[in-house]
Amino acid sequence: MDYRTLYRNSMDDPEGFWAEAAAELVWTKPWDKVIDDSDAPYYEWFAGGEINTCYNALDLHCEQGRAKQAALIYDSPVTGQVKTYSYSELRDEVAVFANVLQRNGVEKGDRVIVYMPMIPEAVISVLACARIGAVHSVVFGGFAAKELATRVVDASPKLIISASCGIEGKRIIPYLPLLDEALELADAENLTRILVSRPQLPIEDPHPAAVLWQDAVAEAHAVPCVEVSATDPLYILYTSGTTGEPKGVVRPNGGHAVALKWSMKNIYNVDPGDVYWAASDIGWVVGHSYIIYAPLLHGCTTILFEGKPVGTPDASAFWRVIERHKVNCLFTAPTAFRAIRREDPAGDLLKQHDISSLRALYLAGERCDPDTLHWAETQLKLPVIDHWWQTESGWPMAANPMGVEHLPVKAGSPTVAVPGYDIRVLDDEGEEVPRGQSGYIMVKLPLPPGCLNTLWGNRKRYHEAYLSRFEGYYLTGDAGVMDEEGYLWVMSRVDDVINVAGHRLSTGALEEALASHPDVAECAVIGVEDKLKGEMPLGFVVLNAGADIDAADLKKSLIGTVRSLVGPIATPRDIHVVPRLPKTRSGKILRGTMRNIADGKEYKTPATIDDPFVLNEIASALGLDD
Ligand code: COA
Ligand code: AMP
Repeated sequence: MDYRTLYRNSMDDPEGFWAEAAAELVWTKPWDKVIDDSDAPYYEWFAGGEINTCYNALDLHCEQGRAKQAALIYDSPVTGQVKTYSYSELRDEVAVFANVLQRNGVEKGDRVIVYMPMIPEAVISVLACARIGAVHSVVFGGFAAKELATRVVDASPKLIISASCGIEGKRIIPYLPLLDEALELADAENLTRILVSRPQLPIEDPHPAAVLWQDAVAEAHAVPCVEVSATDPLYILYTSGTTGEPKGVVRPNGGHAVALKWSMKNIYNVDPGDVYWAASDIGWVVGHSYIIYAPLLHGCTTILFEGKPVGTPDASAFWRVIERHKVNCLFTAPTAFRAIRREDPAGDLLKQHDISSLRALYLAGERCDPDTLHWAETQLKLPVIDHWWQTESGWPMAANPMGVEHLPVKAGSPTVAVPGYDIRVLDDEGEEVPRGQSGYIMVKLPLPPGCLNTLWGNRKRYHEAYLSRFEGYYLTGDAGVMDEEGYLWVMSRVDDVINVAGHRLSTGALEEALASHPDVAECAVIGVEDKLKGEMPLGFVVLNAGADIDAADLKKSLIGTVRSLVGPIATPRDIHVVPRLPKTRSGKILRGTMRNIADGKEYKTPATIDDPFVLNEIASALGLDD
């Protein structure tokens, strides 16, 4: 069936379409309704049904002849380790660790925070939660203690799973000081922690509330999967919004399993038994969906890579992994390819490896600039597919559906709406704009299965943030264009979210960090173009009257504050002291105009500006005045 017909089917008969996809999974109780719209605009997929996601990801494959097939390959250039888990080995480890969770008081519906580096125990923790119906919430290891604390407070977990350290290139990053600080900030010092003691930094004197992973597992036994309602949360994943307060995206079990399984063949064109590698981090949605769940739901082998595209040890890391594990499908962020290109522009390292197993490269997490896309195509001589999605959707919203039809690639566009997503581009009044004109990228409700169904403990915020802009539509937060041929062009965010090396950050959170400095009266953070990372944060501060501090010291101190309050991934490129910030007469900071100035783009002085001269002051601080 061609793409257009399939897409039309998904729009004309969503219930039939998704019921057929759901039949690929094992349900312990069939659903009563494919989609329950009785509480619109809140929709629930597969209401009344019961399913266990872990069962479908592991046990089922063991029963169907894949027990000995590799499920997970842990490849860690930073520790020099490669370890393969077959489906039965992974199931057994997960089933035993699920018992560890139970023995530590975790029951169905309880939250468990996972703050881990990229080690197999992280994947085991997540799947063990799914096995007993506990709700995992993974926090990216590159976030600082305060960010972790916010998530602990919001999720109120029963326990937290962590490790003694992460490894960044050659550097050991001790996790426990961060963990202790976060739990103190969250007023949860006595929360039980299960800790993996890594040989690179053994835990010698564990906290009284800590249990060592190795000891706990030695005392536990394998437990079976429990039945979970399709509409019950599988996980919470916090993501950045307009304010500094992260949003807890809730992912229900049933729709998630259905959508992810469907996506593996139809979007990524992979079959059970294939080797699938998402070079991302389990702390991000790409890691949740395409390192852990989707490849396992589909009976593939997934790769867990503890390394970087460059520096571990060099720009050939990806090619080595592909060759060694015969990877068929690679998914990463454009930044990774820009980093490889910078170090190996002519692809000399690539030529030293046999990557003939690879069939296609998928890029997402940020807009893929045409230059990077063409470079990757030239080097790999394979289809390079940009696709667009977000934490909230959990799986692609626009893509080239390679398992259905390989549509012509238009560099700079993530191609077309994925079946199930009714994507519309609307103007300020909520009217659809003609093809070719830009506007808000919205999805007409209901969203397909797999997307968020609320924000953790805060349905009101879910409504305000996503459903209230235009009635009957979901606000993606992106702006762009749908062209005459139905290709989508995602151009910018409509909010204050920035994207640094594929990591989504809120300028609000960075501004809170800068504002916490005693000498700062007012501040603004914008995302400016960066050749490697796509965007980098740039800060502007107005100092308190009488503040007497050396500019270089101030900058160092402010950058340190951002790193310690938000995390090193948010390190600003620079911080400028300015006399005032450009504002509208109603007091709104003109971040868009500041951004255009910093990027050296043409800009119009906004009619609403309070004092146009402030723009000259900004240009002058950036050294752009002549
Ligand atoms: N734990 C602790 N610290 C972390 C971390 C983690 N999990 N991840 C990153 N950091 C730290 C880094 O060590 C670095 O610290 P430093 O400033 O002290 O050197 C800082 O955060 C910035 O990291 P990063 O943004 O990764 O930049 P980099 O210069 O180290 O590497 C790239 C640049 C392009 C190689 C890297 O950003 C990359 O691999 N990008 C791919 C992006 C990706 O996979 N995104 C996922 C979405 S699909
Ligand atoms: P995250 O929730 O961290 O996955 O970030 C999602 C956001 O990243 C999207 O809303 C977009 O702003 C941006 N993004 C992700 N993929 C793409 C893409 N292929 N093209 C353009 N922007 C993208």
